[in-house]
Amino acid sequence: MDEATTAAETASLECHGIGVQRGGVRALDDVSLRVDVGEIVGLIGPNGAGKTTLLDALSGFLARMSGTVTINGADVTRESASRRSRRGIHRTFQGSRLFSNLSVEENVMVGALASGRSAAAARSECDELLASLELDRWRHQRSSGLPQGITQRIVLARALATRPRFLMLDEPAAGLSEVETEEFEHLLRAAREAGTGVLVVEHDMRFVESVCDRIYVLSEGSLLFQGTVADTFASPVVQQAYLGEIEH
Ligand SMILES: Nc1ncnc2c1ncn2[C@@H]1O[C@H](COP(=O)(O)OP(=O)(O)OP(=O)(O)O)[C@@H](O)[C@H]1O
Ligand SMILES: [Mg+2]
Repeated sequence: MDEATTAAETASLECHGIGVQRGGVRALDDVSLRVDVGEIVGLIGPNGAGKTTLLDALSGFLARMSGTVTINGADVTRESASRRSRRGIHRTFQGSRLFSNLSVEENVMVGALASGRSAAAARSECDELLASLELDRWRHQRSSGLPQGITQRIVLARALATRPRFLMLDEPAAGLSEVETEEFEHLLRAAREAGTGVLVVEHDMRFVESVCDRIYVLSEGSLLFQGTVADTFASPVVQQAYLGEIEH
């Protein structure tokens, strides 16, 4: 465990006062957020609100920003994405990028090997994940061109193979059927029970309502609301800024 970690600050991913300028726009302004291990936190808001930019800030994909990011109490604001991933955070990308010329199994192995385990341990982790996420029958197929429900499960398997303490997902339910979405919720709950802290960006409000423990709402780069699922959905300000516009 990192020397900067203290008992009071154990096992959380936090940011404080994040500000980001992007393409002449204030993409984020004074945004603070916390995710603890063992919880699923939703990050919602209209298109262009800054959700993906906030994942970029947390995971180390922004060269310039103000504010601080801490992992288990250690200030990682100046650390690269790869150093942060070694501290146990993993993020997926909007649009589910896979290595399209690799097989399903090879994609998951990339995650398993990234965590620095031996090849044999990575192989056995990969086998377990392919079985538990019901991906076995596709394991030798190329990952490109598979149905969206399978693709999102491969993305999740590759992410879980890194054994993340904190997992950030950018619109994992996009393009999934109702049944596939429910299966995905089940997998996320299993990750939570295993002690992972999950931050999930999603526009599917049925999914958010069903799977999240707490929610942050972004609007035009600022934090509009944070609270329990029930409080968020009942909030007039959230209704007006976002929920009124979408199907729920
Ligand atoms: N690479 C970039 N270069 C310039 N501007 C960008 C870049 N990425 C995002 N932006 C701008 O930053 C703001 C926040 O965008 P961001 O992609 O974070 O929103 P989002 O909440 O993820 O939206 P969506 O729900 O559509 O994915 C928007 O005004 C967007 O146009
Ligand atoms: Mg986005």
